[in-house]
Amino acid sequence: MADENLFFLCKSADLAPGSILKVERPEGALAVYNLDGEFYATDDRCTHGLASLSNGEIIDGEIECTMHFGTFDIKTGEPRQSPCSVAIKTYKVEVRDDDVFAIIG
Ligand code: FES
Repeated sequence: MADENLFFLCKSADLAPGSILKVERPEGALAVYNLDGEFYATDDRCTHGLASLSNGEIIDGEIECTMHFGTFDIKTGEPRQSPCSVAIKTYKVEVRDDDVFAIIG
């Protein structure tokens, strides 16, 4: 994997288990999640509207959108709770030393 495909998200110590971080990028912000010490990344924007998923709450591995309380599976991006019906894009995450990256492209 070429380094140019790695997009720096955060330091691993900066995102505690159960937390979400919004990371801006020109192509659209990402939401980064720490689920029990494992890191995951998705598009930040809810596919149902203009809400930012990083403002939501993690419940049993799902992210609950604050706008209409739909949910997505954080690992797969699949919609789990209405009114969400379109999956959010997910990104592979790689941790190198203390740095957390999304693999883009
Ligand atoms: S905008 Fe996210 S559930 Fe409606």
